[in-house]
Amino acid sequence: MRYGHFDDARREYVITQPDTPLPWINYLGNQAYFGLISNTAGGYSFYRDARLRRLTRYRYNNVPLDTGGRYIYLRDDRSGAYWSPSWQPTRGRLDEYECRHGMGYSVIESARDGIRAETLYFVPMGHNLEVWRTTVTNERTEAAELSLFSAIEFCLWDAWDDAVNFQRNFSTGEVEVADGVIYHKTEYRERRNHFAYFACSEPVASFDTQREAFLGPYRGWDTPIAVERGAGSDSVAHGWAPIGSHHVRLALQPGESRTVIFVLGYMENPDEDKFDPPGTQTINKRRVVPLLREFLDPQAVQAAWEALRAEWDALLGKFQVQTPDEHTNRMVDIWNAYQCMVTFNMSRSASYFESGVGRGMGFRDSNQDLLGFVHMIPQRARERILDLAATQLPTGGAYHQYQPLTKRGNDQVGTNFNDDPLWLVLAVAAYLKESGDLSILQELAPYDNQPGTETPLYEHLQRSMQYTLDRLGPHKLPLIGRADWNDCLNLNCFSTTPGESFQTTTNIDGVTAESVFIAGLFVLAAGEMAQIADLTGEHDQAARYRTAGQEMTAAVDAAGWDGEWFRRAYDSVGRPVGSRWNEEGQIFIEPQGMCAMAGVGVADGRARQALDAVGERLATPHGVVLHQPAYTEYHLRLGEISTYPPGYKENAGIFCHTNPWIMIAEAKLGDGDRAYDYYLRINPSAREGISDVHRTEPYVYAQMIAGKDAPTHGEAKNSWLTGTAAWNYVAITQWILGIRPEHAGLRIAPVMSGAWDGFTATRVFREVTYHIQVERRGPGNAVALTVDGRPIAGNVVPLPLPGCAEVRVEVALG
Ligand code: GLC
Ligand code: GLC
Repeated sequence: MRYGHFDDARREYVITQPDTPLPWINYLGNQAYFGLISNTAGGYSFYRDARLRRLTRYRYNNVPLDTGGRYIYLRDDRSGAYWSPSWQPTRGRLDEYECRHGMGYSVIESARDGIRAETLYFVPMGHNLEVWRTTVTNERTEAAELSLFSAIEFCLWDAWDDAVNFQRNFSTGEVEVADGVIYHKTEYRERRNHFAYFACSEPVASFDTQREAFLGPYRGWDTPIAVERGAGSDSVAHGWAPIGSHHVRLALQPGESRTVIFVLGYMENPDEDKFDPPGTQTINKRRVVPLLREFLDPQAVQAAWEALRAEWDALLGKFQVQTPDEHTNRMVDIWNAYQCMVTFNMSRSASYFESGVGRGMGFRDSNQDLLGFVHMIPQRARERILDLAATQLPTGGAYHQYQPLTKRGNDQVGTNFNDDPLWLVLAVAAYLKESGDLSILQELAPYDNQPGTETPLYEHLQRSMQYTLDRLGPHKLPLIGRADWNDCLNLNCFSTTPGESFQTTTNIDGVTAESVFIAGLFVLAAGEMAQIADLTGEHDQAARYRTAGQEMTAAVDAAGWDGEWFRRAYDSVGRPVGSRWNEEGQIFIEPQGMCAMAGVGVADGRARQALDAVGERLATPHGVVLHQPAYTEYHLRLGEISTYPPGYKENAGIFCHTNPWIMIAEAKLGDGDRAYDYYLRINPSAREGISDVHRTEPYVYAQMIAGKDAPTHGEAKNSWLTGTAAWNYVAITQWILGIRPEHAGLRIAPVMSGAWDGFTATRVFREVTYHIQVERRGPGNAVALTVDGRPIAGNVVPLPLPGCAEVRVEVALG
């Protein structure tokens, strides 16, 4: 069942039914001011940090679901009937409804009893504010007298404190109202120099800033007394719950439309210039007034919206394809790339499953996210790499997380996730291949943010590699530490205390438990390091990394192979995990994907065998599960993985992040049909028709789809913020379509489905636009390249001469 449809020409998903299985959301903002918005106008806004600078309040896990947002009410002043044009929060009848989620904006349009309302929500580029542009049209044959109300609820800035500290917070709320503009200034009189403002383009008939005055005692957002009555009470909040609501009266002739603009924004004043006049407690509004003049004007709003759309055209224009498959086209051209950008901005902080108050930026997460956006914004990828390197420890290890505002490592979570540092090598390699900017290797970055400890980035990479080599276990495989990629495989933890964190509790020093997955990752990273060392002329080092990779491969050969697939790990007493000798958890996806991607077992057929085992034991129609059999009971020596009910999350769920590793591995082994089959199984667009089963948005990937052991097999959770976005983008663009940036040029090595006769692509690479046309001539994957009309040996398009802007590439495949 569907709840809408894709409009690819406009790069929108159009939701035609408001009661989607779960709220289907979008993101506003791309720089510093951000918002989450659902298809019924739920959600919230924040400046930079979803916890510490939360502008509007949002109650997670609310009843009804997704209550609280950017609300507009319409009231027919003749009959007294009122409704929400976004359906929530009144949830009354609408004669028509449509929500269009686009690139950085959403439009919600509906009609009831001949009154049409359309609201566009977006954040103008370069500004710390959001615009709501509402157009109300009278489609009746007679004149209409209407009241329009806006409504938001302010958060008292720190979203965590706001949700727990009521003994204080019910007394601190403060607002100012001036010229119809509502200013939220809680704590401005003391240590804060920031405030929020909420303005309206029309003269206001009334307003409210105290929640209870607007809603009425014991009422909810679905029945505000001010709307019922047809007038606000001009309330000024002192403590309790400051809100912002404007009331505008509209008299519309038949056929007449009126546009009302609302602006919600964040502003900082210098400490010495906070008050106006100085010496009072009144906010200095001089920085707000010109912005309001600009953005309360319909023409400026239209221009800002067009600029936003042009920005997305440019970003997405870096890679566009036309293949025979619409699911591939719209994910590559639009939604997968868009999700990669959102994930870059948000890391794992704010979604409808991440509450914005919890996790900082993950070290391994951010490095992997980079793989999906580096081609769109290489400059920001460069900054991100240097931020990440600065949180690395002198040992080469890494804080597992760091805080986005301070950019410092998070002591509470600490370190010793032994895969972490290796992802930095993959991220830097991807950046170098994309940009050719070797200068980043010489950029100085400190360790643990300590001034005086700076070394070139290149040394950070060396220490990352050495970190693994310094921590090898009894089988010469890497020690796992607290956990590797699978945060829930906790082999050194042994937790018996309810609520204790599996990730931060380590009960033994861990000189025994080893990870075959990290071994595979190390081999992959060693290959990248060898190439980087060669590029910088350090051929001895390159040779050493190659040797280290071979030695690790030998260790996997000796102790990592179970007979039909790669083992997952060895536990704290040296017993295998992910082996036919186990009763549960006999085979895991991660080492099959990672080892094959790294080339381990490719030459001798074991990689093929391992991937066949994945196909037989782990693949389901909804994607490939993490392991089998699922753990049915709690295993003290395995940790959190066995706490989840079978089929969910890390206990044999379809953890979508890992599926592209299998796609890439299949492509590496030359099986385009299988790679593509796995790709389509979790492709959100291809799952649109089963939205009642899948339940999350059909335009973005979710972290997890319930596995075959779960009663809700096929149901997705944790949409939007997941490494799935970046890795699927890499799998489809670089390995299945085969357009792969490399140090020496753009490699074109498609491993596409046998059912395709070809495809075309446009790829901007190092500021040159490549027009690529691939045609199938035979069944295999051999490539014959013609570049600007001339045949070229091999499958790497060499870098063109400086000044060349466009290159035409024809590819005969078969
Ligand atoms: C979550 C974490 C990620 C981890 C994965 C598997 O997505 O953000 O770091 O690799 O779970 O446990
Ligand atoms: C929880 C999540 C897992 C995540 C981990 C670390 O265990 O289930 O996905 O990786 O926390 O944040």
